[in-house]
Order: sequence, then C-alpha cells, then structure tokens
Amino acid sequence: MKIAIIYHSETGNTQKVANLIAKGVEKIEGVEAKCMSIDNVDKEFIEDAKAVFFGTPTYAGSYSWQMKKWLDTCKLKLAGKVGCVFATENYLGGGADNAELALLSELLVKGMFVYSVGSSEGKPYTHFGAVCIKDGDEDQKKRVEIFAERVAKNVKKLFNE
Ligand SMILES: Cc1cc2nc3c(=O)[nH]c(=O)nc-3n(C[C@H](O)[C@H](O)[C@H](O)COP(=O)(O)O)c2cc1C
Repeated sequence: MKIAIIYHSETGNTQKVANLIAKGVEKIEGVEAKCMSIDNVDKEFIEDAKAVFFGTPTYAGSYSWQMKKWLDTCKLKLAGKVGCVFATENYLGGGADNAELALLSELLVKGMFVYSVGSSEGKPYTHFGAVCIKDGDEDQKKRVEIFAERVAKNVKKLFNE
C-alpha cells in the first residue's frame, strides 16, 4: 500500500519532518512511502496512494501560499483518499494549528477523508496533524513518527490492505 507525502519547504524544516513521516509510516509492514516536494511530484505514485500527507511551513499563521497554489492548480484526483497534514513553525503558538485547519479544509473540498488520529489512541494526541517548531526537538520528532505510524496502521485497516 502506497502513502504519498507532499510538502512545501523553502529552508528545509518541513522537508525534514516529511522524512520523519515516511519513517513512521514505513514501520507498518507492506506500506511504501514516498516524499515529494510540490516542485517535483510523482503523479503516478500519488494516484496509486491510499493516503496523502501534506506538509507546510506556517506563513503568517496559515499554510504557505506555495502549497495553496499547488493545491488550487493540481489536476490530481485526490478524492476518496485519506488526507493528513503536518506543519512547521518558528514559534510556539505561531499559528501551525491554524495552518493545519486551513489546509485540512482544502482537503475536505477535494473530497478527501480527512484524518488526524486525534486522541483515539491515547498519548501522544495529535489534534489536527503533526507540528514541529522548526524541524522539531527530540520529543516532537518522536510524536511525528508515532502519528505517521498510527495513520498508516489505520489506513491499512480501512482499505483492508
Ligand atoms: C513569509 C513567512 C511567514 C512566516 N510566518 C510564520 C508565522 O506566522 N509563525 C511562525 O511561527 N513562523 C512563521 N514563519 C517561519 C516558518 O514557518 C518556519 O521557519 C518553517 O519551519 C519554515 O519551513 P521550511 O524550512 O520548510 O521552509 C514564517 C516564515 C516565512 C518565510
């Protein structure tokens, strides 16, 4: 089962978190992850994927305009796939939650099954998606991997893969 990880990153933080998402999902047997920048996506892989993670830096308390442009203009069929998000920010309370909610709302409009695991599997909870300050301290990095692993496990169950 394929899981795509699409990110926008100018200075590398979100890209590093994308790699942690890939590490987490690949802990689940039979799951293949692929990280891709919005500048160079593997369309075939995305079409085949059962779930897609979207990663963004926080820009002025929301998701980046580059990610917005990519989503608004991409012609890929994302409907029917599970959609999850992660975001980086510079400051605690810098708006990553809002960036994630805005990004999730765009995924809803695309007809994706929006998912965050939430508090359903105990701590660490993931409210809307994974969040890291810059590329994350050790605790944040661990949370990213746990979130990604839980998503992959549940997507696999959902699609009977
Ligand atoms: C135009 C711009 C706006 C930003 N706005 C915020 C913000 O509102 N809150 C915050 O915490 N960080 C903000 N940042 C910092 C970035 O979200 C942060 O450095 C992020 O990790 C960068 O990701 P990247 O290295 O993947 O490009 C901003 C950065 C830029 C360039």
